[in-house]
Amino acid sequence: MSGGSHAGPSDWYKDAVIYEVRVPSFYDSNGDGCGDLRGLIARLDYLVDLGVSALWLLPLCPSPGRDDGYDISDYEGVSPEVGTLEDLKALLDAAHARGLRVITELVLNHTSDKHPWFQRARRAPKGSPDREWFVWSDDPSRYKGARIIFSDFEKSNWTWDDEAQAYYWHRFYHHQPDLNYDHAPVRDAMLAVVDHWFALGVDGLRLDAVPYLYEREGTSSENLPETHAFLKTLRARVDERWEGRMLLAEANQWPEDAVKYFGDGDECHMAFHFPLMPRLFMAMRREERRPITEILARTPDIPANCQWALFLRNHDELTLEMVTGEERDYLWREYARDPQARLNLGIRRRLAPLLFNDRRRMELMNALLLSLPGTPVLYYGDEIGMGDDLALGDRNGVRTPMQWSPDRNAGFSPADGSKLVLPLVTDPEYHWQTINVENQRRNESSLLNWTRRLLRLRAKHPAFGRGSAIFVDAGTEHAFAFVREHEGDRVLVVCNLSRFYRPLSLELSRWKGLVPVEMFGGVRFPEIGEGRWPVSLGPRGFCWFELKPPEPAA
Ligand code: GLC
Ligand code: CA
Repeated sequence: MSGGSHAGPSDWYKDAVIYEVRVPSFYDSNGDGCGDLRGLIARLDYLVDLGVSALWLLPLCPSPGRDDGYDISDYEGVSPEVGTLEDLKALLDAAHARGLRVITELVLNHTSDKHPWFQRARRAPKGSPDREWFVWSDDPSRYKGARIIFSDFEKSNWTWDDEAQAYYWHRFYHHQPDLNYDHAPVRDAMLAVVDHWFALGVDGLRLDAVPYLYEREGTSSENLPETHAFLKTLRARVDERWEGRMLLAEANQWPEDAVKYFGDGDECHMAFHFPLMPRLFMAMRREERRPITEILARTPDIPANCQWALFLRNHDELTLEMVTGEERDYLWREYARDPQARLNLGIRRRLAPLLFNDRRRMELMNALLLSLPGTPVLYYGDEIGMGDDLALGDRNGVRTPMQWSPDRNAGFSPADGSKLVLPLVTDPEYHWQTINVENQRRNESSLLNWTRRLLRLRAKHPAFGRGSAIFVDAGTEHAFAFVREHEGDRVLVVCNLSRFYRPLSLELSRWKGLVPVEMFGGVRFPEIGEGRWPVSLGPRGFCWFELKPPEPAA
């Protein structure tokens, strides 16, 4: 029982470049103002041309939509706004026919309060099996060790329910009751949900909010051994039934806790590297490599069949949970001077506005994202440098419609402008009439075309996805350099984090005799010799070199 085509190695996720799509904001095929699955099918060729190899689709299931679909009311359906199960199957076929994999969401931790399971539970007698699907208490002071994640919106992780005459537990919004994983029928139900999506043919599942499945008194109720035990059961099921499929953990945790989601190679195949992300922004602002090298040094090795997922931005606020209080204040001060840009413990902005709409910074950050050890995840719209809209509430400002062309509604939808799922960005600096795919296609030096070229270079070198990483001294704190190696494929990455020109001298003696060839232009640089290898880079410049043996003398 397997849907779709799943050719290629079972660890395809190591070579992947993932593109995160919010379907309602991508392309509207039927003119109702909301993007949909048919619309995404119509835009697959754009994504193939861009050079990504996997799509991660934000929640598709029916939902009241109070947390953008992360509040699910039916785990096996598709929200009518984006289409039908048939449309989803058509999307999977169309994607697979183009060699694209598709990753969807598995929201394990909580449901919507409108989900029939919750409606049944709140009416069921206390202590009855139906009631036990969720976590109830008469006393709202239990599990005090658990932090409040949506700190701008919620005061407690407990909410009183009149119908049930009890408090129920929720780690996120109060309308998202947590499922009770101590109750065996819950575990079975979620395993069945996994089977449902893999049977349809999806290639991977992102495990939303996975650290919070269990709660225990006297702990933070995160990363508990019980949670890992459940994940091992889930993985064993996938290995047994769903060859070549992938599990991606969303665990916003310190490296030593995050790596536990790989288990011994018997939990998740992938996990997001949350602590690295804010440190890339810190390194950019401080113009020194230390924040990056320190967090990588603190990151334990991972099992051979596993891979980090790296990202700069996503559909949420840029989270500053995995930094110290001092670092958070620094990042808020430097990247969110406007208090409106702050949300919970983070910054609700897109990549271009965060980087002052500075092309050099965007290129350098993307070059790091695409060359550090792991699989890069791009957020839709960032490839054209889309802006955001702070006037929209919560995280909606980074979820506005994709800007396709200078035509009506940015080519996103033929609907009346007032019917659009979210308004288009009209800030003059990022206006959709200027920042859009069509304009950038025409301009050979646009960010879009630059990104395409970078992705093509990356695709030629398996070392980026699979290689070891050796960090090399470049003679200054302001530079960051490393070599990636995989089965004879060798790539040297050199970055100048500073805003000034810099002469660098690289300690490359173990690659003595090899010739660095710059990848964009194919220009051969001087052979690596005895001493340090000198190279100069412009402000926030970077180079990708292939290290090649010298050409035999003619
Ligand atoms: C994850 C999602 C976020 C959502 C939360 C609760 O963190 O990325 O968008 O609000 O889970 O489901
Ligand atoms: Ca539509």
